[in-house]
Amino acid sequence: MKILLFGKNGQVGWELQRSLAPLGELIALDHDGAPGLSGNFADPDSLVATVRSVAPDLIVNAAAHTAVDKAESEPDFARSLNALAPGVLAREAAARGALLVHYSTDYVFDGSGDAPRDEDAPTGPLSVYGRTKLEGEQLIRDSGCRHLIFRTSWVYAARGGNFARTMLKLAAERDALTIIDDQHGAPTGADLLADITAHAVRQTLAQPELGGLYHLVAGGETTWYDYARHVIEHARARGIPVKVAPEAIRPVPTSAFPTPAARPLNSRLSTGKLQRAFGLVPPPWQQGVDRMLDEILPN
Ligand SMILES: NC(=O)c1ccc[n+]([C@@H]2O[C@H](COP(=O)([O-])OP(=O)(O)OC[C@H]3O[C@@H](n4cnc5c(N)ncnc54)[C@H](OP(=O)(O)O)[C@@H]3O)[C@@H](O)[C@H]2O)c1
Repeated sequence: MKILLFGKNGQVGWELQRSLAPLGELIALDHDGAPGLSGNFADPDSLVATVRSVAPDLIVNAAAHTAVDKAESEPDFARSLNALAPGVLAREAAARGALLVHYSTDYVFDGSGDAPRDEDAPTGPLSVYGRTKLEGEQLIRDSGCRHLIFRTSWVYAARGGNFARTMLKLAAERDALTIIDDQHGAPTGADLLADITAHAVRQTLAQPELGGLYHLVAGGETTWYDYARHVIEHARARGIPVKVAPEAIRPVPTSAFPTPAARPLNSRLSTGKLQRAFGLVPPPWQQGVDRMLDEILPN
């Protein structure tokens, strides 16, 4: 099987290079592409020749415009990356009968209420990022290609910057911290996303009726405040120097940190459909976060 992966150096793309490798011959591109192969989502039409040249059985798209606040001031660029380019990949996948894997986001929802949403819940994006990601989903579905779309949330990876690293740095430097406590979701490891993707791809290739849209997040839920406390106390317990005292970490509402893009307050996603379809159970979010911390913290 030939696999064409886009966005190979992103959080999820990096882990996919590992998890997809045993499934077949992997051609992995970043935005610079490779000789004769464009991977540039800013020029969606350039991807047609890439797909036709590689002739993949499986296309996996981990590329996206993920700078949520920046997207507010460059909506056309965000739309190119998050909607038009995936739309081109979907049309090419449909034309050659390839399976397309794509990732979407909790930001397609308006974040109202406090119940976990399933795949059929009404959408209502609050930001350019959310709107362009939703359009990407729709273009893929409208193309008629075989697809797996995974909506996920609060993605982190051991590689590169992430929320936990920022909290560890601030906790080592400051006497007090204020963290948002009214956004609810599940921190989800790029490694978990990549591993579940590989399992789901294998099953969907054998049973095409499994194709469709799935919510894929780690188990349980938290807030950025409780997530930060978890990270900082894990470091403290490991004997890492931490300046901030537990009682000096204070919860604040989202309104305390105004940003160009509005964030949904309720990012809870139900993974029941994924569990039933593939027989996979996403582990509790703490399991992946603790593992990531053990990888990035000094011994
Ligand atoms: N991060 C989150 O919290 C989160 C939450 C929900 C859903 N998601 C979704 O999960 C998926 C993976 O996200 P991630 O966290 O792995 O994102 P990421 O780390 O920001 O990676 C994004 C990738 O997109 C690539 N990219 C940027 N501009 C490009 C262009 N013009 N052409 C081609 N590629 C370009 C980047 O490549 P270069 O490095 O080569 O520029 C990078 O590899 C995305 O679909 C995202 O929307 C993420």
